[in-house]
Amino acid sequence: MRTLLTLKAQKGKDKITALSLYDYPTARLVDGMVDVILVGDSLGMVVYGFDSTLPVTMDMMVAHGRAVSRACSDTFVVVDLPFGSYQESPAQAFASAARVMAETGCKAVKLEGGEEMSATVAFLTERGIPVMGHVGLQPQSVNALGGFRVQGRTPEGADRILAAAKAMEGAGCFSVVLEGVTRDLGDRITRELAIPVIGIGASPGCDGQILVMADLLGAGERAPKFVKAFCDTRTLTRDAVAAYVEEVKAATFPAAQHCY
Ligand code: KIV
Repeated sequence: MRTLLTLKAQKGKDKITALSLYDYPTARLVDGMVDVILVGDSLGMVVYGFDSTLPVTMDMMVAHGRAVSRACSDTFVVVDLPFGSYQESPAQAFASAARVMAETGCKAVKLEGGEEMSATVAFLTERGIPVMGHVGLQPQSVNALGGFRVQGRTPEGADRILAAAKAMEGAGCFSVVLEGVTRDLGDRITRELAIPVIGIGASPGCDGQILVMADLLGAGERAPKFVKAFCDTRTLTRDAVAAYVEEVKAATFPAAQHCY
């Protein structure tokens, strides 16, 4: 069974595999195949069709987190704290994280931020809540960033992201997700941190990778450059639905073996 200790021990030795997904049947299928399942707030865009993660609520995260945790006996489940549920104060973050942990059964929470969040992260980790940080492109700050764009392209920007990652480590995070940065910066941050750095749109040199399951399956209409679709779910799904429609119209489904 994966724990925060086994994940930390993988640093520099065995790449961490992580997926962001949100439902029970998919989690059942991949439990034990990957090290980490993140119930990411990307569900706002992938499942609910919002154009950012900002409208995601605590109730959504709790409902999906509970479904995924229920499916997993081996893979380490992390649930995102949604926008507005932790930025106000350490006490607000503790209340949100405690609710997520208690009601979903997940093993850790993830939150976005750098130095400005370090007192909050320390407040949680000192009280027994494992925290995964998220630095680089922080989707909850999409409006402040002016869009979903690669971060840390300038030397000052790169230093800022390194400082954010170090602040998360110093505050007690057991791991950080590093999103949307140059390959060089991904390598540098992975080298400079003692905790595992899990990349997405970062570098193959990171200690692990995370992908959104729908992207891996090729289910999305559009995908950013860093995504690799490992199969073509859109075609498979449309072909299956077309076959179903055809058989229903022809009254060849249900066949004898499907009837009581
Ligand atoms: O919300 C999410 O799924 C994430 C991952 C893409 C890292 O934060």
